Amino acid sequence: MNFTNDNANRTPLVDNVFRIASLAKEDAKINGDLVINATIGSLCGEDGKLAALKTVYDSFREVPDRVKAGYAPAIKGDPQYLRLVKDWILQGHLCAMPNAAVATAGGTGAISAAISATTNDSDAVLIPDIAWGSYKIMLNYFHLKAESYPLFKGNSFDTESFERIAGETIRKQGRLTVVINDPCQNPTGYCMTRGEWDKIVEILNRISENGPVTLINDIAYIDYMKDLAHSRDHFDAFEKLGQNVAVVVAFSCSKSLTAYGMRLGAALLLSNNKDAVKELESVMERYCRSVWSNVNNGFMNTFTILMNKRRDEYLAEKAQYIKYLAKRAEIFTKEADACGLEYYPYKDGFFVTVKVEDPAFLSTYHEKLMEHHIYTVKVNKGIRVGLCSLSEKTASGLAEAMKKVAEEI
Ligand SMILES: Cc1ncc(COP(=O)(O)O)c(C=O)c1O
Repeated sequence: MNFTNDNANRTPLVDNVFRIASLAKEDAKINGDLVINATIGSLCGEDGKLAALKTVYDSFREVPDRVKAGYAPAIKGDPQYLRLVKDWILQGHLCAMPNAAVATAGGTGAISAAISATTNDSDAVLIPDIAWGSYKIMLNYFHLKAESYPLFKGNSFDTESFERIAGETIRKQGRLTVVINDPCQNPTGYCMTRGEWDKIVEILNRISENGPVTLINDIAYIDYMKDLAHSRDHFDAFEKLGQNVAVVVAFSCSKSLTAYGMRLGAALLLSNNKDAVKELESVMERYCRSVWSNVNNGFMNTFTILMNKRRDEYLAEKAQYIKYLAKRAEIFTKEADACGLEYYPYKDGFFVTVKVEDPAFLSTYHEKLMEHHIYTVKVNKGIRVGLCSLSEKTASGLAEAMKKVAEEI
C-alpha cells in the first residue's frame, strides 16, 4: 500500500546539475584551479562569483520591511508589478492583442501553471528532444507524457518534424500544449529565426482546426541576447495567431534580475481570442492559489522600484554581463571550430552544447571529462557547457581540452 498516488514517481529526485556541481566543488578543494566547473546555470562574473546586480538589490533594500512581510494584494499578483512586467516582457510589441498577466513562483511556476491548466489527464505535451530537463519532471508529476520532436535539422529548427508530430498528437487527443524555450535556448544557445517563428505560427493555426492549442514560450534567458533591441521581435509573429491558439509567455526574474532565490516570475497570457485569455487567467489564478497562494511581495515591489527608478542603470549593469557572455562564447566557439569540436548552433545566452549523438559514447565522455577535472552537464545528445559560470580565463583552452578527452576514448 502506497501513501502517494498510484501514478506517483517514488524514485528520489536526483538533480544532475546539483549532483555534478557538488562533485566539482569537492574536486576543487583538492585540485584548485585545475577544476573547471561548467555545470552551474547561474550567471557569474569574471571573478567566478554569482552575479547579484547592485541596481536590483539596492531596489530590494528600499522595500519597507512590512511590505516584504505582507501578503500580496491579490492572488494573481501586485497590480503594479503585473502592469510593469507586461510592459517589460512586451516592450511595445503586440499592443493590440488581448492579454493578462499572473505573477508566478519563478518561470517554473508559469510553465507548470500553464501545463496544468491546458492539459487533460495523460495527454502528451510537445517538447524538443534537446530541452531543459525540468519539463519532463513537470510532465511526469502531472501524469502527462512528453512527445518530443528533433529540435534540429542541420543547423536549423526542424519545422517539418515539428509539424508532423504536433499534427499527429493533436489528432489523437483533441488539444495540444507545446513548450518552446526561445530565444537563448537552454541547453544549446540556439535562437529561432523570424522565419522559423512565422512557420510555427502557421503550423499552430493549421493544426488548431483539431482543437485548442497553447504555446508556452519560455523566455527565461531573453534578457541576455546580445541584440536586446530585437530580442522581442519574434512576438510580432503572434499577431497572426488564430482564434483557437493561445500563448503563455513564461518570464523569469531569476535570470533577468539575477534573483534565483526570490522565486518570482510571470505568465503573460496572449491570444487574439479575448475569451481564451480570460479563461486561462482565471484557471491559472486558481492554480496559484492552490499551489503557492501568492508570491514574494517584497520582490514584486523590488521590480516596481527597479523599473520606475533605475531602469537605465539596471540595463547598463546587465549589459556588462551580456558582454562577458559574448566574449566567453566567442572564445569557446572559435577554439571549438579550430580544433573540430562539434557543437549545436549557438547564437546567444548562457549555454553551448557539444554535439554527441551516440548515447554510450556520451556517458563515457561525460565521465572521462570529470576525470580530467572538467565538470559539465550531460543532456540528451550532448554535453552542456555553462558559459554563464565560466570566466574568459577558464573558457580559454576548454574546447581544445574537451576535444582531447574525446580523442582519448
Ligand atoms: C529553460 C528554463 N526555463 C525556465 C527556467 C526557470 O527558472 P526559475 O523557475 O528559476 O525562474 C530555467 C531555469 O533554469 C530554465 O533553464
